[in-house]
Amino acid sequence: MRRLPPVLLEDGCPHDLLSLIRTILAACKEISFRVGQGALSGVLGSTLDENIQGETQKKLDVLSNQLLKDILLESGYVKAIASEEEPGTVAGNPDAEYIVAFDPLDGSSNIDINSLVGTIFSVMRAPKDADPADPNIFLQKGDQQVAAGYVLYGPSTMLALTTGQGTRIYTLDKTQGTFLLTQDFAKVPEHTKEFAINTSNQRHWQPAMQNYIADLLAGETGPRGRNFNMRWIAAMVGDVHRVLSRGGLFTYPEDTKNPEKPYKLRLLYEANPMAMLIEQAGGLASTGYERIMDIEPEQIHQRVAVILGSKEEVEACLSYHK
Ligand code: AHG
Ligand code: MN
Ligand code: MN
Repeated sequence: MRRLPPVLLEDGCPHDLLSLIRTILAACKEISFRVGQGALSGVLGSTLDENIQGETQKKLDVLSNQLLKDILLESGYVKAIASEEEPGTVAGNPDAEYIVAFDPLDGSSNIDINSLVGTIFSVMRAPKDADPADPNIFLQKGDQQVAAGYVLYGPSTMLALTTGQGTRIYTLDKTQGTFLLTQDFAKVPEHTKEFAINTSNQRHWQPAMQNYIADLLAGETGPRGRNFNMRWIAAMVGDVHRVLSRGGLFTYPEDTKNPEKPYKLRLLYEANPMAMLIEQAGGLASTGYERIMDIEPEQIHQRVAVILGSKEEVEACLSYHK
């Protein structure tokens, strides 16, 4: 067998940042083990609690959050953390240079059916002399991320990582407990015939998205002149991994199902890190009206519309929003 290159081939990445990423991965290896054990590790099912966003927490949401939080705060590499499962940010080492925002377990409705879930993370620099307890230190544009990644707990556990020099894919060698580089410089194919959207929300979408999807569904006799295929994993981390692997368009658009919650995906924990990974692999990520990584966040749990993936297809979708 070909000898695989060593773990984390992130050239020129500052030592502290690499140590921080390794710390996140240590927690992810533990989550991977628990996910793999499934019912045997007693992690399936829901808790009796809701998170700050009013969603029922799964046992694995809580466990994954606790693992990441403990290991990051103990490491001394982070000034503060923000998590989808925490009401506010949590202060860490005041002298540390970095802050981390994460979705400890994305796709948690998939847990109980033994389907794809993952962890998504975003690393930013803490402003100099900032108070580690000040949540505003997280209100940075996606463009300011110094690293972003996800760990997908699938048939194999995979890491997609960028530190701003392209996106690389690693696979966890469970016999050694190390992530080995298995794809240098992932590239999202520019053209695609595949899209991903929860069509059960169709009647609640805005006209731009209604028209775009209608034209895809019209196939080769419609305005797009070709047939499209649809895939939906119900975990952004799984859908984005497919897009990174073979192209496609993934969207969770604005809808009017619940007027108080027009968007589903969270800017800091989901949209920004995925946007960085996709852009670093040559794709695009937009809300329909604005590049995701240009958004100035106003609060940590803010949600946004997301359209990302193959360049030509995202541009086609954006043309309906003009
Ligand atoms: P989470 O499990 O962290 O709350 O996120 C779930 C998100 C996202 O991963 C996925 O794309 C979407 O919710 C699935 O939405 P549907 O419930 O509409 O399928
Ligand atoms: Mn999520
Ligand atoms: Mn989650």
